[in-house]
Amino acid sequence: MSTRKVRVAVNGYGVIGKRIADAIVAQDDMELVGVADVVSDWRIRVAVEKGYQVFGSTPEAVDQMRAAGITVAGSLDGLLKRVDVVADATPKKVAETNLQRYRAAGVKSIFQGGEKHSLTGHSFVAQANYATALGRDVTRVVSCNTTSIVRTLGALKDAGLLKRARGVLVRRATDPWESDHSGVMNTVVPEKSIPSHQGPDAQTVIPDLDVVTIAVVAAHTTSHLHAWSVELSRPATRDEVLAAFRTAPRIAFLKAAQGMVALNTTLEMMADLGRPRGDMWEVGLWEDSLMVMGNEAFYTYQVYNQAIVVPETIDAIRALTGVEKDGAASIAKTDRALGVTCEFVV
Ligand SMILES: NC(=O)c1ccc[n+]([C@@H]2O[C@H](COP(=O)([O-])OP(=O)(O)OC[C@H]3O[C@@H](n4cnc5c(N)ncnc54)[C@H](O)[C@@H]3O)[C@@H](O)[C@H]2O)c1
Repeated sequence: MSTRKVRVAVNGYGVIGKRIADAIVAQDDMELVGVADVVSDWRIRVAVEKGYQVFGSTPEAVDQMRAAGITVAGSLDGLLKRVDVVADATPKKVAETNLQRYRAAGVKSIFQGGEKHSLTGHSFVAQANYATALGRDVTRVVSCNTTSIVRTLGALKDAGLLKRARGVLVRRATDPWESDHSGVMNTVVPEKSIPSHQGPDAQTVIPDLDVVTIAVVAAHTTSHLHAWSVELSRPATRDEVLAAFRTAPRIAFLKAAQGMVALNTTLEMMADLGRPRGDMWEVGLWEDSLMVMGNEAFYTYQVYNQAIVVPETIDAIRALTGVEKDGAASIAKTDRALGVTCEFVV
């Protein structure tokens, strides 16, 4: 393992980017050199307040930040000269326009799930394919829902228990801070086509997954809920299925018997646990309701969309830069630094 810290930039300091920035700061083998964005409002002022070096992602953004009295360290191009890798968390479609810029600067880059697999040619979930990302120039951390699918179905597959899986995803309408201007209300909207994109997207990480997903959007902001029906490769006991989930990283158990009965109660518990922003990085799987009947398993889980991809992004930084060759070691290191667990309370 190298002794020099990996120098990292975050471009796009929004819902995902600000969490990635904080998670980088929590790692002892990484240095957050700076964050870049195009806004000049409270969002980027908070970054200044935290002591982060702030850069303008475009020349206009630099000017606007300066005009707004924000202390700007320079432009994104200047930032790129000082880093080994950039985590791009700009919005869908914006991000793809940045790849050439990163390549020209000779900087490795990590994109998020809003981008297509074809942009990077590699899609990443640490527990499934860390090794194939080693030394690459670019990867994409798959979306929140896809990450959860790869974690859970990957766990069953690794235990030799998975034949095929069918899942229904109840998606949040919008992120909480955007609910003044976006999101459906008082309705549930089924996606127009089946499968929804998350099943095929999971196959970009584990190509031989037999998976179909159906998604609906519901009128809440409190994260996503998945309900799965899985055909196992053989009849199994409930304990065997639970053990498979327990063996995999970043799956933790919610217990209805202890009052963890809904999306909102989980979020309250995360806040009470003192987690940053009340984040849940784990898949929160309801232990009580896991049901196994012969060669079929049924279960529900919660995906906290705003945070689940953050530990994966930290591992992607280690994989691309090669500072840690062993995926399990990187996962353990990230999880220790953040406080990822498999039991929320004992
Ligand atoms: N929000 C989620 O729940 C979630 C979960 C998983 C993955 N993702 C993915 O993460 C990525 C970012 O999503 P988000 O929710 O954080 O978006 P966001 O809108 O919250 O944040 C995007 C940030 O990028 C900034 N930005 C816009 N144009 C820019 C430019 N040209 N250069 C630099 N910065 C620019 C915006 O000002 C904003 O601060 C997307 O690919 C998304 O699909 C989002």
